[in-house]
Amino acid sequence: MLKIAVLGSGRGSNFQAIFSAIQDGKIPLAEIVLVITNNAGAGILDLARKHGIPAVHLGNNQRADKLCELLHEAKVALVVLAGYMKKLDTRVVSAYRNRIINIHPALLPRFGGKGMYGLHVHDAVLRAGERESGATVHVVDEEYDHGRILLQQRVPVLDGDTPEALAQRVLSVEHSLYPDAIRLIAEGKLLPELTGAAVH
Ligand code: GRF
Repeated sequence: MLKIAVLGSGRGSNFQAIFSAIQDGKIPLAEIVLVITNNAGAGILDLARKHGIPAVHLGNNQRADKLCELLHEAKVALVVLAGYMKKLDTRVVSAYRNRIINIHPALLPRFGGKGMYGLHVHDAVLRAGERESGATVHVVDEEYDHGRILLQQRVPVLDGDTPEALAQRVLSVEHSLYPDAIRLIAEGKLLPELTGAAVH
């Protein structure tokens, strides 16, 4: 089984989508064993607790060592960032090299990087006059939204779109793309360096 930790700071809709896909048998080889947040008021924390998944709030002053310790204790093989708004400490990135993924609400490598989060992303896409946007699942490295692209799905930009409307269209694609990516990883088809090393 591929043991997953989900890290999030907000409402947790991607966590919910991944959880539901596992419950529905769509990702038979994976399980979420831990949820971690940096925000005590995050919806993802309530959702995790509702589903009986161990959930931990790590305050901003708690160190990377603590995060690594929790991941290690839970025997986590894949770290899934789902709306995690804090930059991961480089020690965590190196300890889990090629084992951390993120989803970004645009077609990377465009419209990513520092400051490109939430509605800022969709606002930038609309201002640039793009005719399409989308969602990207990628490996996490030391730079924002920079690691290897694993999976992408396009969505159209429609006439009269607002950042909010585009965000909603992209988010609904994320909810199937992220579970798909995790299923492919668990099957050894998307991130072979991980499956070889860490799946038991
Ligand atoms: C998503 O739009 C995702 O692309 C971005 O953060 C948002 C998280 O939303 N990285 P949720 O907390 O999963 O609902």
